Amino acid sequence: MKKILVIHGPNLDLLGQREPAVYGKVTLKQINAALKKIAKKRNAALTIKQSNHEGEIVDLIGKAKSKFAGLLINPAAYTHTSVAVRDAISGSGILTVEVHLSNIYSREEFRQKSLISPVAKGAVLGFGLKSYTLGLEALLDLI
Ligand code: DQA
Repeated sequence: MKKILVIHGPNLDLLGQREPAVYGKVTLKQINAALKKIAKKRNAALTIKQSNHEGEIVDLIGKAKSKFAGLLINPAAYTHTSVAVRDAISGSGILTVEVHLSNIYSREEFRQKSLISPVAKGAVLGFGLKSYTLGLEALLDLI
């Protein structure tokens, strides 16, 4: 069974209420349910975490390599600011797919840079819930 760590970054716990014009009405619960459905079909086991704390995300990634075959992550705002999350991914060497609900390259200038993409295998963005499901399928295909 393929073991995957899913990390949702800061403020994603508020999906559904948070800026629906940008992120849609989908909730984190619905995203997780869609991911679990794929995991079941593909014989994968997901561990799903959401954190608003950079250090906690760094800790999770640091411990992930020995336990998980891959990481699916929406680093949220840390995408654009966190050298620490980037270093955790590159340091662990874990196979990583980055996802975003919105197309960060069509938004404010400060969002148009991802510190994570250079250390990820690939990224899926702009498709809402589908960014996650496509990202998970791609990650499972690679393992
Ligand atoms: C996001 C995009 C980020 O810029 C933002 O800070 C988020 C969500 C997305 O999924 O579109 O919190 O990662």
